[in-house]
Amino acid sequence: MNRLMIAVASICIGLPSANADNSVITDGKALNDENCVRCHGSELYTRPDKRVASRKKLSTQVRFCKDQLQLPWFDEEVESVAEYLNKEHYHFK
Ligand code: HEC
Repeated sequence: MNRLMIAVASICIGLPSANADNSVITDGKALNDENCVRCHGSELYTRPDKRVASRKKLSTQVRFCKDQLQLPWFDEEVESVAEYLNKEHYHFK
């Protein structure tokens, strides 16, 4: 899918209008709050037996979850959420 098709698809399924001008949302907190907290809160990111063990794997996991949810995110959006989760919870170097 090219950018335009993704943007059109986003509009059709009623995502926030910030997507309508083809700009990429890079506010990781807003993306996370909007899409990611209905199944698990931050307790998952800080539990003793958490699965994510490196900054790189954090990006992989975010990508996996957004694919499961079929979110039309660009790489920049995946990265901004991973970066937000890292800053808030994981603290990888
Ligand atoms: C449909 C429910 C659901 C939604 C919505 C969801 N997740 Fe998850 N997520 C899960 C489940 C289930 C696990 C695995 C829990 C386990 O391993 O016990 C998980 C695990 C994770 C982990 C790994 C936590 C660890 O163990 O270190 C991360 C990071 C994560 N999700 C990020 C996200 C992000 C980012 C989003 C938004 C794009 C998201 N999740 C949305 C269900 C969801």
